[in-house]
Amino acid sequence: MSDMFSVKGYGAIITGGASGIGLAFAEALAEGGARVAILDLDSNSLNLQVNRLSAKGFDVRGRELDVTNRKEIDQAFAHIAAEFGKVDVVFANAGIDPGIGFSNPDGTRSQEGAIENYEDERWDRNIDVNLNGVFATIRAAARHMKGSGGGSIVVTTSVAAYLNEGMVGAAYMAAKAGAAHLARNAALELAHFNIRVNAIAPGFIVTNIGGGWLKQPQIQKSIGDMIPIGRIGSADDLKGLALFLASQASSYITGAQIPIDGGGSLGMRRT
Ligand SMILES: NC(=O)c1ccc[n+]([C@@H]2O[C@H](COP(=O)([O-])OP(=O)(O)OC[C@H]3O[C@@H](n4cnc5c(N)ncnc54)[C@H](O)[C@@H]3O)[C@@H](O)[C@H]2O)c1
Repeated sequence: MSDMFSVKGYGAIITGGASGIGLAFAEALAEGGARVAILDLDSNSLNLQVNRLSAKGFDVRGRELDVTNRKEIDQAFAHIAAEFGKVDVVFANAGIDPGIGFSNPDGTRSQEGAIENYEDERWDRNIDVNLNGVFATIRAAARHMKGSGGGSIVVTTSVAAYLNEGMVGAAYMAAKAGAAHLARNAALELAHFNIRVNAIAPGFIVTNIGGGWLKQPQIQKSIGDMIPIGRIGSADDLKGLALFLASQASSYITGAQIPIDGGGSLGMRRT
């Protein structure tokens, strides 16, 4: 049975893998014996994490890039595919927090996040990273996997892809819903080529996103108290799902979006 979850010898590419959820994916795959390439904008974190994981004996390399630059994505995939021989798994994970939505944490209306004041720059950058970056990554993955017998593509969306609320900005909602639907459509299109495409939809996970606001203990407590499972998530909570979707354990699953939110999208914690 344990072989079903094996990623040993796989070639894996992870965007936004120098921090948080993407870093947990990189660790899970590397610990499972995959060859891992991390693509990330933040060269300092990238070098730090690649050096740290390499020092542990894992087969990990890094490449600095911005997922909004399609040429860079294509070049990186070509380079890594040549080095690995085959790309088996791709995580389209890089993403950014757009800042406040129309509602402040205290329930008052945010002028900055209100749709009538939403700045072009903020909208465009969010759609660029959180949606266009996913498109560029899926496209590059498809090109390589089509010619090599298939693979697994995993998109990090969010519960914001299907839930509406006020604190998360409009652009994030739209981009994540778009990325989720793009993943489903790519699943339909690419199944013929033995390429599976699934999405992971995290709830609140403590990472560096949004300046690391979820790292504050009082915020973790207040959010954790509302979540049915009774705590906020950690990036390590996503490792099992990453291995499941990357490996043959999920060989008959494509086009799925799996929430990983401690039950947060079901409603408030009940006693
Ligand atoms: N943390 C959460 O609560 C949460 C919830 C739902 C969804 N997500 C999603 O999870 C994914 C990972 O976020 P995280 O929470 O780990 O955040 P994080 O900030 O800890 O990590 C994101 C990584 O992506 C990289 N990145 C950002 N923009 C990039 C770009 N243009 N090109 C290349 N790399 C880029 C950053 O440098 C960083 O290393 C994102 O798509 C995010 O929207 C996070």
